[in-house]
Amino acid sequence: MMSVDSLTGFPAPAAPLNERGQELYLPDAGQLARPPRPISAITLGAGARGHVYGNFALAYPDHLRVVGVAEPSEARRSAYTAQHAIPESHCFADWEAVFAQPKFADAVIVSTPDPLHIAPCLAALAAGYDVLLEKPIAPTEAECRAVLAAAEASDRIVAVCHVLRYAPYFMHMRALIRAGAVGRLVSIQHMEPIGHAHMAHSYVRGNWRRSDEASPIILAKSSHDLDILRWLVGRPTRQVQAFGDLTWFRADNAPAGSTERCTGGCAVERTCPYSALRIYHQQRQRLYVFDLPAEEPARGNDILRALETTDYGRCVYRLDNDQCDHYTVNLQYDGGITATFSMDAFTPMSGRRTRVMGSHGYLDGDMRRLEAHDFRTGEVTTWTSDVTEDEDDALSGHGGGDWRLVADFVQAVAHRDPSRLTSTLAESIESHLVAFACERSRAQGTLEAVG
Ligand SMILES: NC(=O)c1ccc[n+]([C@@H]2O[C@H](COP(=O)([O-])OP(=O)(O)OC[C@H]3O[C@@H](n4cnc5c(N)ncnc54)[C@H](O)[C@@H]3O)[C@@H](O)[C@H]2O)c1
Repeated sequence: MMSVDSLTGFPAPAAPLNERGQELYLPDAGQLARPPRPISAITLGAGARGHVYGNFALAYPDHLRVVGVAEPSEARRSAYTAQHAIPESHCFADWEAVFAQPKFADAVIVSTPDPLHIAPCLAALAAGYDVLLEKPIAPTEAECRAVLAAAEASDRIVAVCHVLRYAPYFMHMRALIRAGAVGRLVSIQHMEPIGHAHMAHSYVRGNWRRSDEASPIILAKSSHDLDILRWLVGRPTRQVQAFGDLTWFRADNAPAGSTERCTGGCAVERTCPYSALRIYHQQRQRLYVFDLPAEEPARGNDILRALETTDYGRCVYRLDNDQCDHYTVNLQYDGGITATFSMDAFTPMSGRRTRVMGSHGYLDGDMRRLEAHDFRTGEVTTWTSDVTEDEDDALSGHGGGDWRLVADFVQAVAHRDPSRLTSTLAESIESHLVAFACERSRAQGTLEAVG
């Protein structure tokens, strides 16, 4: 049932809809429909993402309960066990141990590192669990298809954590396009500014710095963007052409006087934008990768120790990283719609910037504000996100999408109805196929067909 959007004046769906035209569940403003019973889940990997999903369970115990955990770090495991009151018998140091037990929950949350997604997912499906699967699904096309085949052969529900689809901002953008706000959709410009400090933290020093050990950055970081573009366009991707490189974080750019570690007497540490001492010790940023005591001065001392012993203290020009720090893609969709996507490390900001061009209008947004320009009337209307910056940070910077995704997964599992998910496994895999095509194009200088 279409109504008129009070902000834009355009006809708009009454509620955000998934690809099958069903309403998405929103856990705010009292809109979160309570499932018939809470579903139970086991978290594999109690790191950052394991906490994002675990925190949903703490906030909404009528929806989700975490009843088991597998996590090799003793400190993380015991903290998570205490938070969720998990019995000792359901705490494990490795994901495989979970499946040596008879099934004891409805679902498994796979929030282990990138190389450990496919094996736990296949084991969970074989044991009869539904799965909330962190992206990337798998690092190769063959493995993605193996997961899809296993999911289809089972009657289990698999949701891939493409959380941007659940951000109210992108839901609104999609609803506007669907309602004809730009007339006929012609092209999109989409930018993912990673932010220079985030780049250095995750893709130069951190767990995702090697494309062979994690996955290429176009998959590890930007599968969200390839997915959201596909969702906005609403048509299959036909061809891609990609360029990209690692230009800056390389040994040949190491300044004279720099040392192996920022703590090693580096002559340029004070003026280096990537100084680990400044980022982690002085500014106390991105500390979630360390298991630190809460109290000072022990906390500060442990940070310094971590900078002397872990990769987070190493010089950004002297690591074994190989991820691109700039990546540009041209995409062509069914019907000749085109998009350009650009992932850029060297920005002060993060988030996303998107412009949507059509025959009768134009959208321009930065995840906080979305302007809709109507060429017929000259009118400009503005939508502003009610997800505050603090909330967004607390919710991992996905514009409020993370918890909405879990809420949707809970509904799908509780009602045994995978059509309640906005992104089925089969649909989620397309973004991965596009990413693999981008990598082929980038490596060989070719125009690559998708699918
Ligand atoms: N959907 C998104 O927007 C999004 C955002 C960030 C990360 N991710 C993905 O989520 C996954 C987890 O990322 P993260 O940032 O939470 O990483 P993390 O390192 O904080 O957490 C991963 C956890 O898995 C644990 N682990 C390692 N081996 C294990 C094993 N054998 N059994 C059980 N646990 C094991 C680690 O000890 C760690 O605590 C990654 O694949 C990442 O790419 C997705």
